[in-house]
Amino acid sequence: MSMRSNDRADTRAAASRAAARRTAPVDLPTPAPSSFGKVERPNGPLGLGIIASLVTGRSQPNYLFEAAARENAPVAHLRMAGDHVYILSDPALVNEVFLDNARDVMKGRGLQAARSLLGNGLLTSEGDFHLRQRRLAQPAFHKQRIAQYAEQMVTETVRHVSPWRDGDRVDMVEHMTSLTLAIVGQTLFGSDLTGDAKMFGETLAELISGFGQLSALGNERLVRALPQGRRLLAKVEDLDQVVQRIIDDHRSDIANGHGRPDLLTWMIQAHDDQSADRFGATMTDDQLRDEVMTMVLAGHETTAMALSWMWYSLSVEPGIDQRLAAEWQSVLGTSPRVPTFDDIAQLNLTRAVVAETIRLYPPAWIMGRRTLVDMTIGGWQIPSGSIILGSPWILHRDPALWDSATSFRPDRWLNSEGQFDESAPGVPRGAWIAFGFGNRRCIGEQFAWTEAALLLATIGSTWRPELVPGTAVETQAAVTLRPRNGLPMTIRRRHLDAD
Ligand code: HEM
Repeated sequence: MSMRSNDRADTRAAASRAAARRTAPVDLPTPAPSSFGKVERPNGPLGLGIIASLVTGRSQPNYLFEAAARENAPVAHLRMAGDHVYILSDPALVNEVFLDNARDVMKGRGLQAARSLLGNGLLTSEGDFHLRQRRLAQPAFHKQRIAQYAEQMVTETVRHVSPWRDGDRVDMVEHMTSLTLAIVGQTLFGSDLTGDAKMFGETLAELISGFGQLSALGNERLVRALPQGRRLLAKVEDLDQVVQRIIDDHRSDIANGHGRPDLLTWMIQAHDDQSADRFGATMTDDQLRDEVMTMVLAGHETTAMALSWMWYSLSVEPGIDQRLAAEWQSVLGTSPRVPTFDDIAQLNLTRAVVAETIRLYPPAWIMGRRTLVDMTIGGWQIPSGSIILGSPWILHRDPALWDSATSFRPDRWLNSEGQFDESAPGVPRGAWIAFGFGNRRCIGEQFAWTEAALLLATIGSTWRPELVPGTAVETQAAVTLRPRNGLPMTIRRRHLDAD
């Protein structure tokens, strides 16, 4: 056998090992047969343009979906890879499907395709198994735990920016991604993911973008049949090995009586008596692996994008940046100390900037569900098995819901006393959906608010990143909403007393 065919055989073997782990039978619901017969559908664009844009990444699916949704409000329809897809643009209808009818839908095509990477973890699992995993993971996100993580978040951040020098040119997307990856690794698994395996972050980034593009095909088997899909799966196996090492280390520390205070230790030790007969009392290594991968993925890329868009927004809004500097000076001092969890309550404008950034640039820009039963939504008969999309990008930028919808106005999140208040914008329920809904709502929401506010204050009170002049910043709506060509910025030292 030549080297090349040897390589190919290795790739195939690794891909099938990775695929085999993720095709173990799971409790997935199936859509009931529809009894609607022939139905009338709302208008909408041809799906081909959207599929092409998702697969090639050339045009902007967020703008395409938004235009389709607005032109055909409140329900637009298109065909995508054999599916009937409905885009909802009325917050009441989005709530009706994602919250009130949550038991009658399952995750949509994008996340189902992500099973190749995430297995059957919190993001992708369904029904009773999902509830069991949620029960096991929830204690790791209680307030006192987040307060404990806060210190580690700030320590990692200080360490990360310590090599920065005045005038350095950096890509803030890369920096925020490696920093949030390090934070998730430390806080949730007590592991240095960037150091243990620098390849972890790089491989994950490649997988997110690769699987993101392939998910438009909407068919896991097709993904596996393509050479690109097999290459990605072989890389999943590389990550599996790192994660298995982390699990083994934790198990042996627990056995030696040195269990660490982190999510993985709690998940290894957790017993679930309620569903022990169906799923076992404790989690297997494969289940742990899926949750680790899910938390790493869901917990770093989203926050990294929120922070990246924040630096971009502040760089183009110097007035807000100056007011933030004043807030940091008053809370942290002129020679600023590092912020703590308790400071967050006073960092009102800082939190308003976080909220306004993820309103305008929601990292999880679209959510999909497949209907399991026939539904009538907004007067339209939607047959069982259809896909329904709700999009923070579309709802957060709707001029009928938000004043100056496309302008960056953090003050909308401050109440009359100048305090941050999530209900201050006064929009209807379902118009602000950056973290999702009900029992599928982001489990890491408080983690994310804490991390974003602390990182912004820690870095911002010492550094003022400036966008390199002439840089055209555009959105790239992949799995998360990213700045398309990164974010080249010049780092300027900030002197709070001089600002
Ligand atoms: C700004 C940052 C973040 C945003 C905007 C965000 C957004 C979301 C959204 C919209 C969902 C629901 C998806 C759906 O219903 O289809 C979700 C779910 C989830 N998020 Fe986040 N997230 C963020 C940060 C985090 C962090 C820091 C973690 C973990 C440390 C995390 C872990 C998860 C998990 C595990 C789920 C699945 C929950 C379940 O279905 O039970 N996320 N996130």
